[in-house]
Amino acid sequence: MKFSFQLQKKCCNTQARAAIYSTPHGIVETPRFMPVGTIAAVKGITPNQLKNTEVQMILANTYHLHLQPGESIIKKAGGLHKFMHWDGPILTDSGGFQVFSLSKLREISESGVTFRSPKDGRIIKLTPEKSIDIQNALGADVIMAFDECPPGNADYQIVESATNRTYRWLKRCIQAHNRVEDQALFGIVQGGTFPQLRLQAISSLIELNLPGYAIGGVSVGEDSSLIQDIVQFSAPLLPENKPRYLMGVGTYKEIAMAIASGIDLFDCVIPTRFGRHGTALVAGERWNLKNSKFREDFRPLDEKCTCYTCLNFTRAYLNHLVRSQEMLGYTLLSLHNITELVKFTQDIRKSILNNSFTEDFKSWLT
Ligand code: GUN
Ligand code: ZN
Repeated sequence: MKFSFQLQKKCCNTQARAAIYSTPHGIVETPRFMPVGTIAAVKGITPNQLKNTEVQMILANTYHLHLQPGESIIKKAGGLHKFMHWDGPILTDSGGFQVFSLSKLREISESGVTFRSPKDGRIIKLTPEKSIDIQNALGADVIMAFDECPPGNADYQIVESATNRTYRWLKRCIQAHNRVEDQALFGIVQGGTFPQLRLQAISSLIELNLPGYAIGGVSVGEDSSLIQDIVQFSAPLLPENKPRYLMGVGTYKEIAMAIASGIDLFDCVIPTRFGRHGTALVAGERWNLKNSKFREDFRPLDEKCTCYTCLNFTRAYLNHLVRSQEMLGYTLLSLHNITELVKFTQDIRKSILNNSFTEDFKSWLT
């Protein structure tokens, strides 16, 4: 069997769980943070460097890879894993969400989404079938259903119609999926901030007996406290014996709270985006390494961290690199930030196995 999800432990009167998710390209010990490699590259980081951070699974994006270089080239290269030289698990997002956030002139209809390529002005249409075709050609271990994610402030009618359409599109995705053996297709729960719609979406998704489920439509402009409410309500309703993935989240607190609600997988661009802006995640805080207070600070970036950056470089050196806009500065900061968030989820995993999660992480859980 190429995929399995083995629950190891639940803990502390919460929904928190530790599990092992096995994929064709290796295991993911959950809960675990997944860094984003949108264009088949985790920005500024080599796969070798990534391996040393204990990252297990990474993301890539259908939308970006379809525009450039195109899935046929990646298929000819032997698939995404070979093309980018990453032999661990990969998940691809389906593209719909990125069309909405990144392209102008989009038009949505029952058949799919039409938009103008920001690269060369071509008119492109993504449909559920097309998204799955592309994802089948890319060959990631986990692929995502093509969904419609309305903005966080959308009213009930709009969210309801997007949620219903997402369900109809999901059934088309299932029909189109040609690599059931070695690619797990996850369904995405939409429903915005409306519990009734979330419940309805989850009930209909569960009947389709998919190999995994994601909660989408969060962190799209709504308040952070609403994110927690949605996740707390939705995650426990999903099947216990399948992986649960919270899309596009996020911060230490959101991750800790979501794990307490029963989420297993996370992704977010924060570590790499912050890294490129000279910001480091240290001890739950955000540090701007440009700050002149670091000019003569010869301590490691994070004295408790054992990543390559923190073992070998000082705050003063990173301050110098960032001020000089040297690429290496961004690489070293991204490397630390990724290590930091992966470690955060690894530490939570250990505390779940040790039955001490709510005690060890109480500062994040209130
Ligand atoms: N990434 C973050 N949120 C979402 C979502 O709702 N749908 C998809 N496809 N990707 C996402
Ligand atoms: Zn570090």
